[in-house]
Amino acid sequence: MIKRFLPQTLLGRSLMIIVMPLVLLQVIATYIFYERHWDTITRRLARDLAGEITVIIHLMERHPGEEEEKWILDQALTFLEIRAFLKEGAVLPPEDAAAPAFSFLDDTLHHELELLLRRPFRIDTQSYDREVEIQVQLPEGVLKVITPRKRLFSSTTYIFIMWMVGISLILFAIATLFMRNQVRPIRRLAMAADRFGRGLDVPDFKLAGALEVRQAASAFNLMRERIQRQISQRTDMLSGVSHDLKTPLTRIKLQLAMLKDNPDVANIQADVADMETMLEGYLAFARGEGGEEPADVNLSALLREVAGSARREGAAIDLHIEGEIVLPLRRDAFKRCLTNLVANSMRHAEHIAIRAGRREDSVVLTIDDDGPGIPADQREEVFRPFYRLDTSRNRETGGIGLGLAISRDIIRGHGGEIALDDSPLGGLRAQIRLPF
Ligand SMILES: Nc1ncnc2c1ncn2[C@@H]1O[C@H](COP(=O)(O)OP(=O)(O)OP(=O)(O)O)[C@@H](O)[C@H]1O
Ligand SMILES: [Mg+2]
Repeated sequence: MIKRFLPQTLLGRSLMIIVMPLVLLQVIATYIFYERHWDTITRRLARDLAGEITVIIHLMERHPGEEEEKWILDQALTFLEIRAFLKEGAVLPPEDAAAPAFSFLDDTLHHELELLLRRPFRIDTQSYDREVEIQVQLPEGVLKVITPRKRLFSSTTYIFIMWMVGISLILFAIATLFMRNQVRPIRRLAMAADRFGRGLDVPDFKLAGALEVRQAASAFNLMRERIQRQISQRTDMLSGVSHDLKTPLTRIKLQLAMLKDNPDVANIQADVADMETMLEGYLAFARGEGGEEPADVNLSALLREVAGSARREGAAIDLHIEGEIVLPLRRDAFKRCLTNLVANSMRHAEHIAIRAGRREDSVVLTIDDDGPGIPADQREEVFRPFYRLDTSRNRETGGIGLGLAISRDIIRGHGGEIALDDSPLGGLRAQIRLPF
């Protein structure tokens, strides 16, 4: 549940690990600051002002007379920053019921004035930009008090919050910058592994980043070299052995040709022919693996080509391609794979249906036929080299049993997967899935 809301990328996650405690700390700090400090400060300031106004009123009551009043108000202006004057005979305006809800400041001031003044009063914190107006009802009129808003307001609060937000933004930017540099080598490694898995060529990448990332990258480089060496060793050996065997085989063939015709000789000749086909298969396989570089191939055109040549050999093929599909492939190898699959279907079935289309991040290719199919428990076995269902080595029903093995090899070399299944046509379905 929580996982869905967490960022997916490493950058996002590491930033969250850095930023979450920071924000949490700030929120807690700000909360405490508001609760304790700002609250207290505001209350003190409000009480100060309320007290001063009360003192002014008390002084005026104690020392009546115009001259006294002038002196008191003068003192207030000079030393308390309170501008006050008496409107003789005036009455407080009625309380405005529609007045906007009190802010915390209004509330506090209201509370403190009520506590100290014990006279009807009105507060107006909205009408002036930088000043607050308080009117107090006295017996002889209304005392209007105007004082700077600053006196009631601790501006450090905003400065504090601004600093907090500003500093965390700067920290966040710096963290993003550094983390991005840390994440980049990992992303490069992932991309290289992905390309290598798809059989594409991987440019040697420089080791960079944190120690662990470097270790992973150098392990990947070593692994890649080893795999490439293994592949080339295997194909070299395969082609070497096939090539070397061809010479003695040719000699045997010549010697057989000189022998008299009899059934035994014919049998041996058939076996030798089989061996020759096998060796051709090996050589073709080895050639296909070696050297061919992946390039952008129009899969649709390639499929039409394969289907076309199969049709010329008499196959009934229904080809359906969803749009043009272009992707990097080893063209010859991939064509051999398709040809192998189509040849199998041609050998065992009447009708063949080939479908190709894009599914999310892969290309899916299915080859269906209406032949006898392969029993479910044999579908993995037939991928093994030389494994054939029909053990009679009958030329009509099969070759040497390499076709599917080679096909799987080629598809895996492209980072894809091939599997066999039941076909809706009644026979076998071969499904190829390639990463796109
Ligand atoms: N479309 C199919 N329908 C029924 N059986 C199949 C089909 N494709 C393959 N098979 C069975 O799987 C076995 C292995 O196929 P594979 O292509 O590997 O070898 P092969 O066709 O016998 O020989 P090769 O392809 O090397 O000439 C075949 O011998 C056949 O019995
Ligand atoms: Mg085959």
